[in-house]
Amino acid sequence: MIKVAPSMLAANYLKLGDEIDKVIQSGADVLHYDVMDGTFVPAISFGQEILKMVAKKDIPLDVHLMIQNPEKQIESFAKAGAKYITVHAEAAGFGLKDCIDKIHACGCLAGVSVKPFTMISMIEDVLEDADMILIMTVEPGKGGQKMIPFTVEKVRQLRSILKARGLSKIIEVDGGVNLETARLVTEAGADMLVAGSAFFKAENPKAFVDELRCMPTDQE
Ligand code: DX5
Ligand code: ZN
Repeated sequence: MIKVAPSMLAANYLKLGDEIDKVIQSGADVLHYDVMDGTFVPAISFGQEILKMVAKKDIPLDVHLMIQNPEKQIESFAKAGAKYITVHAEAAGFGLKDCIDKIHACGCLAGVSVKPFTMISMIEDVLEDADMILIMTVEPGKGGQKMIPFTVEKVRQLRSILKARGLSKIIEVDGGVNLETARLVTEAGADMLVAGSAFFKAENPKAFVDELRCMPTDQE
């Protein structure tokens, strides 16, 4: 079954507690928490202090680090309450495997992410080590964008590489996910879907999550 990760980036921050309750009541699996540093991506979002407060709520936290020098921040995000920590291959460079090891040493699950124009080959060496691979289906940095069509093929390519190597890893997809595009990426092999604007705009968030969860997978 598909896992659903509403992104807090699209929430109304004036009533953040209520918005997170909405995520919990929808039955979503995790809360996706986008960290932006103004360097890796143009915008700045939230850091460790807000995560500590969010962690008081009863839902696992999926922290997506869109930051340079991610190795410097892993420990503090882990301490703040992250369950998953994902770093970008473009930001970690040759230190990608060290970041994964550090995430594991902090007791979290490790994700590696690639931007739309970064090739899967850049992360092939660490597929054994990572728990999750996050394929960005929009340019990272802001919500509300349209999914870039060619990224669906990257999901398919990654799933077939994982299958060929006998690896069972989570493929997470982030950017432009809605009820139409979700189908394309789950059929291609995605098993965890981030949804920001589509979740918070949904009239019935629970029905939205249920529908995403029952999308056809590449196994069917
Ligand atoms: C974008 C972030 C996403 C964002 C997705 O850089 O990583 O998690 O919140 O937003 P939507 O679902 O609106 O594309
Ligand atoms: Zn994200």
